[in-house]
Amino acid sequence: MSSSNTYNVAIVGATGAVGQKMLETLEDRSFPVNHLKLLSSSRSAGTKVKYKGETLVVEEATPESFKGVDIALFSAGGSVSKKLAPEAVKHGALVIDNTSAYRMAEDVPLVVPEVNEADIEHHKGIIANPNCSTIQMVAALEPVRKAYGLSRVIVSTYQAVSGAGNEAAEELRAQSQAFLDGEELEANLLPVKGDEKHYPIAFNALPQIDMFEESGYTFEEMKMINETKKIMHQPDLSVAATCVRLPFFTSHAESVYIEVENQNASVEDVKQLLANAPGIVLEDDPSTQTYPTPLSAAEKRDVFVGRIRKDPDHENGFHLWVVSDNLLKGAAWNSVQIAERVVANGWL
Ligand SMILES: NC(=O)c1ccc[n+]([C@@H]2O[C@H](COP(=O)([O-])OP(=O)(O)OC[C@H]3O[C@@H](n4cnc5c(N)ncnc54)[C@H](OP(=O)(O)O)[C@@H]3O)[C@@H](O)[C@H]2O)c1
Repeated sequence: MSSSNTYNVAIVGATGAVGQKMLETLEDRSFPVNHLKLLSSSRSAGTKVKYKGETLVVEEATPESFKGVDIALFSAGGSVSKKLAPEAVKHGALVIDNTSAYRMAEDVPLVVPEVNEADIEHHKGIIANPNCSTIQMVAALEPVRKAYGLSRVIVSTYQAVSGAGNEAAEELRAQSQAFLDGEELEANLLPVKGDEKHYPIAFNALPQIDMFEESGYTFEEMKMINETKKIMHQPDLSVAATCVRLPFFTSHAESVYIEVENQNASVEDVKQLLANAPGIVLEDDPSTQTYPTPLSAAEKRDVFVGRIRKDPDHENGFHLWVVSDNLLKGAAWNSVQIAERVVANGWL
């Protein structure tokens, strides 16, 4: 640790969609930073970035980059985390990793502070940040699970292009312009960079996020299924997901169906619980058309919930609409929030 309870922090992937938000969030939250190191690939090394009025120069990430670093926030893809996170740990840094590289590893806590903050304490150098779609869903469901028990979750997502990084946002911009100009749409990236076919995202909906598994589910869907069970410490929870990419820039929206164990829960009870839950904002009033949308949730750290209804046929079934900024609560804010809890509790 550096002097007077301040910390040397590194951001790996500092020029990316998530990395840029990490920088903003550290500044917004006045995180006690002593020295900030910004790391990327050699492509962006030398880029100048402003932090608290100071100009910082982005450096290429190497194993030696982590000397003297206390906390390293990783957001540069799974292969970079696999290669460099162990190096950071060797140099004594605590890694908070945004990629899927370590999420399901047994000795790595997978943390959403509103749900399982206590798991942080058992870290062995790496703490994983869950998938963006998982984070907002479990944050919204945990108060209900705690009060009434949860037996089943079925979620359909409506996910923003920024979830696939800066390049995907650029592709949406270019295709939208081409569509309006009556030109042919060029698709080079979505639904998945590494897959064989690419489809336009502008004015479209793509029911594929990440590659397909043999089961017919995509990796994104399996992340939601497996991560939810791990974070909630409920391996027998029934979870199914359908993940869809839509042509807007920021915030993921989710239609979530749940079944609770308690027979007596009412819509009013669920609303009351969520209205008082940390990190959750209830926006639910059909009489005034009040509900969250991707635009209304963008640039905010909270998870917004609306459209809470009882299932017409299932006594214990409820439907919810959950929206949050995928780059903030879904990524940068959840990571910085973990770092804040680490520092506050002396868990470094
Ligand atoms: N976007 C989201 O909503 C979201 C949410 C949760 C988790 N994540 C995860 O966070 C990671 C980054 O996502 P993103 O959306 O920010 O992607 P992005 O916009 O494409 O940014 C990628 C970042 O990684 C850096 N990078 C790439 N290859 C590198 C290498 N070999 N060594 C060091 N740095 C390298 C890039 O640097 P250059 O500028 O040099 O290319 C850039 O800073 C991914 O693993 C993603 O799954 C994203």
